[in-house]
Formats: sequence, C-alpha cells, structure tokens
Amino acid sequence: MLELKRKWLSVLGAFVIVASFATNGETAMAKEKYKYVENVAHRGASGYAPEHTITSYQMGEKLHGDYIEIDLQMTKDGQLIAMHDEKLDRTTDGTGLVKDHTLDEIKHLDAGSWFNEAYPQYAKPEYVGLKVPTLEEIFLKFGKNASYYIETKSPNIYPGMEEELLRLINKYNINKKKLLVQSFSADSLKIMHELDPSLKLIQLLSYKGNAVITEDEITKIKEYAIGIGPNHTYLNKEYIQKVVNSGLEVHPYTVNTKERMQQLIDWGVTGMFTNFPDLLNQVKKGK
Ligand code: G3P
Ligand code: CA
Repeated sequence: MLELKRKWLSVLGAFVIVASFATNGETAMAKEKYKYVENVAHRGASGYAPEHTITSYQMGEKLHGDYIEIDLQMTKDGQLIAMHDEKLDRTTDGTGLVKDHTLDEIKHLDAGSWFNEAYPQYAKPEYVGLKVPTLEEIFLKFGKNASYYIETKSPNIYPGMEEELLRLINKYNINKKKLLVQSFSADSLKIMHELDPSLKLIQLLSYKGNAVITEDEITKIKEYAIGIGPNHTYLNKEYIQKVVNSGLEVHPYTVNTKERMQQLIDWGVTGMFTNFPDLLNQVKKGK
C-alpha cells in the first residue's frame, strides 16, 4: 500500500513539474510574441492630440509608442513638412494645396484648433495655435536616435522629395537602424532604395476587399523593402502568416481597438499603427 502511495506521489510530482514547465514555456512564448510588436504612434498620439504636431509626437513617446509616424508634404519653396493631406483645409485654418504655399505662409496657420472642435472630449486650450512642424524641426526636437517612421506622401506631385528626405536624414545624422521609410508608391520606395540601399523600407498596401498576396508580389517587394503596411480591415490569419513566413515585416494600419490589436498579434503581425499607443501598450502587457 505504501509502495502504491509512493508511486502515485511520484506520478503526481512529475505531472506538476511538466505542467509548471509548460506554463512557464507558454509565458515565455507569450512574452516573445509581444516583444517584437512595434507600436507605431500614427501621426503621433493622434487620438488624443492634433495630428502631426510636436505635441502629438511627444504624447506618442509618453504613451509608449516605439515609432513617431510622420507623413510628408512639400511646400512651394521646397521644404518638407509634416502633414497628412495635400491640402491645408482639414488640419489647419488655411485653405488650398500645400504645394501652392510657402513655409512662411504655412507657419502662420493654426494646426490645433480644428482638433478641439472635432474631438471636444480630448480638447485642450494649449492645442490652440499649434504650428505645422518641418521635418528639420522634428529631427532637431527628437534627435538622431529617435525611431522615425516616415512616409513620402504624394511623391508624384513633389519631384525630388526623396532626395530632400535623404539629405535631411544625412544632415541630422539620423540613426538609420531605427528609421523606417514607407510609401504607397513603389516608385518612390525604389528611388529611396537606389539613393541609399541601407535604408529600411516599408511598402504600404491598400485593400478594398479580402486581402490576398501572391508569392510573386512578395518576391518583388523583397527586392527593395523589408516589410509591408497593409490596411488592417480585410486582413486574415493566412495572409499574415504567409507574409511573416516569407521574412517580411507586417505592420497593419490603423488599429484603434484593443480587441483588434489582440487578434492581429495572435495572427502574427510584427507591429501596427495606432492613434492610441497606450492601448497597444496595454495589450502587449496583457492588460
Ligand atoms: O502610413 C500608414 C498609414 O498611415 C497609411 O495611411 O493615410 O494614415 O497615411 P495614412
Ligand atoms: Ca501615414
């Protein structure tokens, strides 16, 4: 009887050890899974502050964004500025195309008040009168070792924007290991790749229905880019696993709910763009 009890206890002990290894293993795997999910503060923490202002970028860093995401437009006098739209109308009190205005004219605009009107729940008096920053000002403010995720927007209407972007990256000695350059335009990315093959590039993709990517498309993208940034809406697990298994990074945009963030992480994405970097940070911490 005693012998039987001993045997039973040793079986139970072995079970506890195996279970404990399994649990720790799972925890380690879970930690590993979240470790490399890049948190890209989309236009800064643009859910809480006026997009593409220094304030929004600072908030992105404070809320645990790993990258500052910057969209570029070019002024009439050839200055690269941070702005999503080709027109001034939505995010400033100005009107018309960026390309038809000098930097001096754009610097007189208010890039914050629109946010207070559009999002009264997040409005702050200090947002009134915020200025549109130049890329140079951003580099000076956040320094050469910040992680920037920079998009060449509308490169077809700004010939030379790639050369100017690279000139500033080199002028301010920006750490290229922590820099990603993104575009919907494969031509623009190929110009960047030609100019400096050491740059890490992300091909943005926009799907209007169920996302599908062929081996041929992946092979072509890998000739110049290290990853893709698809809109998250129509993605599925098979798509993401196919791309990740090919060795490309996958950074979907723009993901603003914790449920969707969790699902995309479970499917294997390596990062994502969000207007709410604090929410992604919570998901990564299992909160
Ligand atoms: O750059 C990723 C994502 O920002 C692309 O969409 O229109 O927000 O620049 P958009
Ligand atoms: Ca963008």
